[in-house]
Amino acid sequence: MMFFMDLTNCKKLAGEKAASLIKPNTIVGLGTGSTATFFIQKLVELCQNGLKIQAVPTSENSFRLAAAGNIPLIEINTITAIDTYVDGADEIDPHKQIIKGGGGALLREKIVATMSKETIIIVDESKQVKRLGNRPLPVEILPFGHTAILQQLQLLGYTGVLRHTPNKELFVTENNNLIYDVHLTTTQNNPLFHHQQITSIPGVVDTGFFLGLADRVITAFLDGQVIIN
Ligand code: 5RP
Repeated sequence: MMFFMDLTNCKKLAGEKAASLIKPNTIVGLGTGSTATFFIQKLVELCQNGLKIQAVPTSENSFRLAAAGNIPLIEINTITAIDTYVDGADEIDPHKQIIKGGGGALLREKIVATMSKETIIIVDESKQVKRLGNRPLPVEILPFGHTAILQQLQLLGYTGVLRHTPNKELFVTENNNLIYDVHLTTTQNNPLFHHQQITSIPGVVDTGFFLGLADRVITAFLDGQVIIN
């Protein structure tokens, strides 16, 4: 029987599927965003039913959700490895190359992904793209000298906008940095090259390209299918 859902339900399905894969007595990285929230909410439920894990959040928001649900949290600087990290994505291509950072948590997310033995990406079908770049590429930059940093990025062909809050104030990350959202052109289609070129500028902290970091991808479709690749 076919049944149809909306994208929010897809996010929930993907998040809950990922939670069902979490093994007892492991350290779990908690992603950030609306899809990761569904994962954390299901994890809260599983922990209340006896699942024993420790978790590392990638943002204040995920910290609050986990703490409110009594998921045991572990201070990141007391460990050097995480078993499983689960997070959403803004775009994912057929090679599991990803753009993240729509929520501005890309730097902590990448640190946690790099520390993790396994990274599971959870997405609804709208996040699938043939080629990265339909949505902006977030670039985290230092506030110090940012006018010159932006000029260097623009001279290299990276046009974009400094991210602002809905109140029109500069968006500041939890690491006290700024986000420059780059609009990639169709010819800027080599993620590794552009990641390397952008991060070679002093003052650029990182890009939202997550390359070679996703181990498994859980995609939920509007017809109710959930596929793990
Ligand atoms: C936050 C992220 C998110 O994972 C990404 O923006 C996807 O968000 P959502 O699940 O709300 O669609 O990278 O920095």
